[in-house]
Amino acid sequence: MLSCCRWLQPLVQASLLLCSALLNHGQLCPTPCLCPDPHTVDCSGQGLGSLPDLIPLNVRRLLLSGNFIDHIPADFLVLYSDLVCLDLRNNSLSAIELGTFSTSSKLVFLDLGWNNLTEIPAGTFLESGSLIKLRLDSNPYLSSISEDAFLGLTSLRELELESNALSSMKVASLSQLSSLKVLRLEDNPWVCNCNFANLYAWLMENLDRLPRGKFTAVFFCS
Ligand SMILES: *[C@@H]1O[C@H](CO)[C@@H](O)[C@H](O)[C@H]1NC(C)=O
Ligand SMILES: *[C@@H]1O[C@H](CO)[C@@H](O)[C@H](O)[C@H]1NC(C)=O
Repeated sequence: MLSCCRWLQPLVQASLLLCSALLNHGQLCPTPCLCPDPHTVDCSGQGLGSLPDLIPLNVRRLLLSGNFIDHIPADFLVLYSDLVCLDLRNNSLSAIELGTFSTSSKLVFLDLGWNNLTEIPAGTFLESGSLIKLRLDSNPYLSSISEDAFLGLTSLRELELESNALSSMKVASLSQLSSLKVLRLEDNPWVCNCNFANLYAWLMENLDRLPRGKFTAVFFCS
């Protein structure tokens, strides 16, 4: 591409503009994705079975929703340390390898809803201190959330855990989220046991921090 630029230099300025446009948008945009601006790669609904190749290193918004991606290599995000928004909604992910998010300290928004996750292990988001919104809803087999799953999420304001297969959750998973403002827990098969009683008590104590309408469904406990 650089040699392409040199080759164009003797030509009119319009060609140079074209060349820089190619550098910024065309050449570096992975097929079959769209790159509406220099920091956004939009591969939504393209039928992808795996992550696209050749994503620009300076990407900030990576939109991958509505594909069939079933695996993220643990080192995938090492190269994309500027990533602010990662949308993996509605894919086929069944697990998050430990360390996957350990280099994404600028990540603010992460959507893993509508996947096939079964558990959220301890320390998954340990280095994600900038994360503000985390969507983990609608994973029909997600039944286990470690007590330390959300450790490190010191900026997290919104956590979506609705429509999963959660029958219980330790209060400790939530009580460490000091910035939490919105929590969604409805449409889970909660079981009334000691864990639930503790969770219920914590929710009662934190009514002021949580929007009433959003989590009242958690009270349906049969
Ligand atoms: C999920 O993605 C598939 C494939 O793109 C699409 O057909 C389906 O409507 C999407 N489902 C939701 C709930 O968005
Ligand atoms: C989701 O997980 C279930 C059970 O682990 C499995 O039977 C199913 O094939 C998975 N679906 C996809 C789309 O990966």
